[in-house]
Amino acid sequence: MKPGTLKSRRSNVGDEEEAASSGGSGGFPPTPRKDGWWLSGLLLKAGAAVLILVAGVMIGLAASASVSRYYVEASSKLQAGEEAVRKQVGGPRCGDGDGGEGEALSFHGFVQPGPPWGHRMTDEELFWRASMAPRVEEYPYQRVPKVAFLFLTRGPLPFAPLWERFFRGHEGLYSVYVHALPEYRLNVSSASAFHGRQIPSGDVSWGSITLVDAEKRLLANALLDFSNERFVLVSESCVPVFNFPTVYEYLVNSAQSYVESYNIDVPQCAGRYNPRMAPDVLEEQWRKGSEWFEMSRDLAADIVADRRYYTIFRKHCTPSCYPDEHYIPTYLHLRHGARNANRTVTWVDWSRGGPHPARFGKASVTPEFVKAIRNNGTLCTYNGKPTTVCYLFARKFAPSALAPLLNLSTTLLAF
Ligand SMILES: *[C@@H]1O[C@H](CO)[C@@H](O)[C@H](O)[C@H]1NC(C)=O
Ligand SMILES: *[C@@H]1O[C@H](CO)[C@@H](O)[C@H](O)[C@H]1NC(C)=O
Ligand SMILES: *[C@@H]1O[C@H](CO)[C@@H](O)[C@H](O)[C@H]1NC(C)=O
Ligand SMILES: *[C@@H]1O[C@H](CO)[C@@H](O)[C@H](O)[C@H]1NC(C)=O
Repeated sequence: MKPGTLKSRRSNVGDEEEAASSGGSGGFPPTPRKDGWWLSGLLLKAGAAVLILVAGVMIGLAASASVSRYYVEASSKLQAGEEAVRKQVGGPRCGDGDGGEGEALSFHGFVQPGPPWGHRMTDEELFWRASMAPRVEEYPYQRVPKVAFLFLTRGPLPFAPLWERFFRGHEGLYSVYVHALPEYRLNVSSASAFHGRQIPSGDVSWGSITLVDAEKRLLANALLDFSNERFVLVSESCVPVFNFPTVYEYLVNSAQSYVESYNIDVPQCAGRYNPRMAPDVLEEQWRKGSEWFEMSRDLAADIVADRRYYTIFRKHCTPSCYPDEHYIPTYLHLRHGARNANRTVTWVDWSRGGPHPARFGKASVTPEFVKAIRNNGTLCTYNGKPTTVCYLFARKFAPSALAPLLNLSTTLLAF
């Protein structure tokens, strides 16, 4: 990113606008009036065809006057139209506090959308705006791909100090977005990576479609920043198990997305399929997977843009069907199966059975435990080659695990 370049581009745009408006009647070309009189004076001296010429000039003048009247009318109509549109869409509120109307169309404002609380778009407006993708392949600025970390939480982030250490020194390569309950205000110091990163949110009841809405809101806010290339959903009980450079390289260079997606014939999976979803979603297309996804930019934009399948899931995936475990895995299977690794990069321990995975506190966090998460003997594929690095993040951890994890962050975790 070259802020200087962006700035000078912006002032150019401003100058152009000013020049156009100081032209008075809207920048149309000068009328040929002067030339006409000069020409007629010359011909008067010749003495001949005076009447014809004057008549010609008069016709010319009348024509040019009507042309200018046309331009004036057209340009004032245009202005009135713009005014109406501005009123309709609520005008400068989108660019709040950032210099008003001109700003909304500047390249700078488009490429650097500002902090995520800076808009007051409805979900419908936000998803529409976020689903837009450029068709020109090269970027007209130096784009460094970033990883967007999407924190889905009810309130506090007990592992914020660990994440802050993880992010430290890598500014410009990541961005953070936090979706908390609407009444919750995240209170962190201005030096924190989480400072000012809370997005406009909505109520979430666990297990309902509102959880998918929150995920889409996080994706959409992150999509507004064109530099965000990969999108990781994490919860307040998630921690990183590798350092930032490792995570960044792994994700940014990956040909695939990491959204768990499978179908097994048990009541908690295939049993949740509702035949009313046919023919849009057939029984054999039904998928399940962990909510904690990692995906590329174009998949994220597709999910934000999707209305067809979202509507079906909202209608027909109700308890004991949970949209957050089925909608994205099924959607990707239908639309982008080949681009999905079908596995998650977030480790979790379901081995104890029951409705909730194991939760690890202070006593569990030892170097051996973290080493076993980083490499538990399982092989997975990365860009078509086998690797032992299958998990970059892990859950679920209790707040008491923070101190021992911070202790490991300088040694084993190396950040
Ligand atoms: C935010 O945190 C600071 C420092 O921990 C504290 O002094 C302040 O009262 C908190 N503000 C709110 C609104 O909770
Ligand atoms: C993931 O599943 C899709 C079907 O949805 C399949 O086409 C694809 O090959 C699978 N990916 C891997 C890496 O196995
Ligand atoms: C490694 O962890 C995954 C996820 O918890 C689990 O499915 C797998 O069985 C584990 N492998 C070993 C060898 O423990
Ligand atoms: C931090 O690590 C040191 C040395 O490995 C150990 O003695 C200490 O108990 C650890 N502290 C915590 C809070 O785990």
